[in-house]
Amino acid sequence: MRIIAIANQKGGVAKTTTCINLGASLAYHARKVLIIDMDPQAHSTLGLGFEPDEFDRTILNVLEPPRSPYRLELKEVIIPTRTPNLYLAPANIDLAGAEYRLIDKLGREDFLNSGIQRANLSFDYILIDCPPSLGILTVNALKACREVIITIQPHYFAMRGIEEFMETIGLMKENLKHDLEVYVLITIADVRTNLYREVVEEIKKYFGDHLFETVIHRNISLAEATSHGVPVMEYEPSSSGAQCYLNLAKEVIKLEEEKPGKRLLRKN
Ligand SMILES: Nc1ncnc2c1ncn2[C@@H]1O[C@H](COP(=O)(O)OP(=O)(O)OP(=O)(O)O)[C@@H](O)[C@H]1O
Ligand SMILES: [Mg+2]
Repeated sequence: MRIIAIANQKGGVAKTTTCINLGASLAYHARKVLIIDMDPQAHSTLGLGFEPDEFDRTILNVLEPPRSPYRLELKEVIIPTRTPNLYLAPANIDLAGAEYRLIDKLGREDFLNSGIQRANLSFDYILIDCPPSLGILTVNALKACREVIITIQPHYFAMRGIEEFMETIGLMKENLKHDLEVYVLITIADVRTNLYREVVEEIKKYFGDHLFETVIHRNISLAEATSHGVPVMEYEPSSSGAQCYLNLAKEVIKLEEEKPGKRLLRKN
């Protein structure tokens, strides 16, 4: 089972779009996939066609400390989506309270990880949609993973904040003895512009072969699909957005053959 967080503390860089559509693409390639929504905005939950407020069992229940009366096991909150092979652990706005509730708890970085470990799940992939912050929810997501995909939208300040993100990953390695393989995905790209070429050069210099060859082009079908509550492969299968994410899934699947740890970033 591969567990991958989709993260960047910057907002609006297609974390959720990637989670939903990479998840659906992996499912399309016959993998059994779980998406865990770790964002109080609940955009993955919404984007898969669900109304967050209607859930009384969410990922928040899994993050509850051991003796909490609200605690549930992950299996009790997972639901199937309309896409075969694609499942969801939903969130709603109540998750916003977790930042405060967990902050003084012993082992606060580990609640999601231990929830996943306890559950003994039979998925090929778990993708975790992170909120746009480096708070306790993102740290929980990163601690539960061996791999993280950072989504970057190419514009002038794209690399700003990435150093801070990498610092967090470095701190997790140092303080929590938790090592992560880092991959970078370029999203919402206008590939014909000079700006695109410049920014991609910069990203390549920093991340080398950690950068996915697949680039997610700007494509309106992706935005439309999410607002209709379905993955783009169902909304507009012939769109470039669908093709981009299906290609990304192939690249991600190819990494299954790679020796774990081969691409651990040595920069930290
Ligand atoms: N390739 C794309 N082409 C066009 N629009 C896109 C593309 N990818 C994402 N979008 C749109 O950009 C906006 C931001 O995307 P998304 O919600 O996935 O980002 P996010 O990083 O999850 O945001 P947040 O930080 O708020 O969680 C959305 O309106 C989405 O529909
Ligand atoms: Mg999001």
